Amino acid sequence: MMGRRTSDAVKISILFSFRATKVFSGEPLAYPSPAFFSTSIVGETPILVRDFIRSALYDPNHGYFSQRSGVVGMLEKSIKFNQLEGRKAYMRHLDKIYKQHDIAWFTPVELFKPWYAHGIAEAIMRTANLSIPLQIYEIGGGSGTCAKGIMDYIMLNAPARVYNNMTYTSVEISSSLAKKQIETVGEVRSHLSRFTVECRDAADRSGWGDVNPQPCWVIMLEVLDNLPHDLIYSKNQVSPWTEVWLEKRHDRYAMHNYILTPCIFVFFSH
Ligand SMILES: C[S@@+](CC[C@H](N)C(=O)[O-])C[C@H]1O[C@@H](n2cnc3c(N)ncnc32)[C@H](O)[C@@H]1O
Repeated sequence: MMGRRTSDAVKISILFSFRATKVFSGEPLAYPSPAFFSTSIVGETPILVRDFIRSALYDPNHGYFSQRSGVVGMLEKSIKFNQLEGRKAYMRHLDKIYKQHDIAWFTPVELFKPWYAHGIAEAIMRTANLSIPLQIYEIGGGSGTCAKGIMDYIMLNAPARVYNNMTYTSVEISSSLAKKQIETVGEVRSHLSRFTVECRDAADRSGWGDVNPQPCWVIMLEVLDNLPHDLIYSKNQVSPWTEVWLEKRHDRYAMHNYILTPCIFVFFSH
């Protein structure tokens, strides 16, 4: 059974990182019926934030990651940090880069390439048991910059047997990004025999098969917040927690707060 709607529809503005959508508090609604994993965000039925994210990012027809090829910005060349005199110069350079590219955002592994990936590789090398084959999984590897940077670093800095025996498996939901990853990693031909891309939803448990007891590394950069999740809200420290539902009205989303559904409540109270 679902809970009842709380009296106050809270006015908060959310800027969804993938789409600048204005949110406003709407008129009171009849209590929504559950719309778990709905595939459409167009409609008058309020949906949970998890359904909204799933639809907006992953719907096979209009999902941000399903459709668009250039969603993850890639720099053609690394920024020469040693030629920048401090923060202001860096910000100016960043401004220039954004003006040159038709892209909404660059991730840290792109902006700080190759150093960001090299830092991760160094951390792996310092802590891994290098007497057993190194297995790395990356979920949501974007354009493959992290994978290439890590493999480059291990090739150049680890004992040869570590590089020779390593495997790097990328699990990527977007087919266009999966292709891009092979191109990026394939810039160094020897990486390709150690690198595999599985084009699938990493959140779908069935794709992972049986448990492999061998230790492995799992890397996720800028991915966790893309996975469908709920949004809960409390106006202040004494108000009850509420869950957020979204309702599409023309080109805007109305946000409504309801008391927690049992499923979210059980999770939250543990
Ligand atoms: C914001 S981008 C980050 C890309 C890269 N990690 C970086 O930091 O530049 C999110 C990446 O995760 C992928 N992704 C999102 N949800 C996924 C899922 N459920 N399973 C596998 N990949 C997913 C996207 O296609 C994209 O490559």
